[in-house]
Amino acid sequence: MSFQRWALLSVRSGDGRPNTREAGARGLRRKSWWFGSFLPAVMERGGMLTVRAPATSANLGSGFDVFGVALSRPADVVRVEKADRTTITVTGAGSQYIPEDPEKNTVGAVAEALDAPAHIQIDKGIRPASGLGSSAASAAAAAVALDELYDRGHAREELVPIAAKGEAVVSGDAHDDNVAPAILGGFTIATDSGVTCVDADVPLVACLPDIVVSTRDARRVVPDGAKVSQLVETVGNAATLTTGMHRDDPDLVGAGMYDSVVTPSRAELIDGYDDVRDAAFDAGATGVTISGAGPAVIAACHEGDRRAVGTAMLDAFADVGVESRVYTTRIGDGAKVYTD
Ligand code: HSE
Repeated sequence: MSFQRWALLSVRSGDGRPNTREAGARGLRRKSWWFGSFLPAVMERGGMLTVRAPATSANLGSGFDVFGVALSRPADVVRVEKADRTTITVTGAGSQYIPEDPEKNTVGAVAEALDAPAHIQIDKGIRPASGLGSSAASAAAAAVALDELYDRGHAREELVPIAAKGEAVVSGDAHDDNVAPAILGGFTIATDSGVTCVDADVPLVACLPDIVVSTRDARRVVPDGAKVSQLVETVGNAATLTTGMHRDDPDLVGAGMYDSVVTPSRAELIDGYDDVRDAAFDAGATGVTISGAGPAVIAACHEGDRRAVGTAMLDAFADVGVESRVYTTRIGDGAKVYTD
């Protein structure tokens, strides 16, 4: 199935930044789990609230189902208003494929979980089925917005499992690796014991081809097991990547993105993946892998190489007859509340 039509749709809301306030000071994030609870509820006139939640990239190669990063762009914007029962409207990228029935939409489950009925408008900046955490962004934005709208007082990290419940409505499986960075920002490590969040600033390039890979298919090809040598390699790469995040070091992050367990079988579902990866490396990328379940491909690089890496990826997809679009981005902040 082609996403060519989607490429024509506006992503006008994806980069909106004005008049926002941070979810939490970046420095504070390392020191406190509950920075979100410091924030006073901010309501617009008429009891409306708008939240922007970022696209995210999960896995980062060596951190399958564990690692995630918030991307500075693109993003979804969700606007909520108190109501007796929940209604949903969806506009923007790929909106024609997203159900507005609260029973079937990711934000409907979030409203239910928070007992917070509302008119919810979702403006999609992130195309669904992209590997860029599209449903997670909507769920994260709704969780933050509805929690503030109804003054429920949850800390940001408490909203992660609530948003994950919403994401499960569409993906069938609840993973925190996208909703955690969408809510908290930065680099996140999501395990059964909770989420660890690291402030990080690393330049990234995400290239989204005009093809569809269903998450179901992408999970079906994940191997049942791995050799001990692959486990050793994965631990080394994951530790290298995590250290790179602490140091804002694109070389260490890139080196740690290598994965020989899950990525090779998933790469077969993405036309031209090997060529795109090689072209990105040739243009200066320090690491390249599949973003989430794909089909987006994510590359780490140095600041000055982002444009060249993006162009190389775009051209490599074009050479195999696949249209794509590039986001020159970086690790960014989590969901933000708009004050007007
Ligand atoms: N870690 C998931 C996957 C991403 O790769 O299938 C979606 O949560």
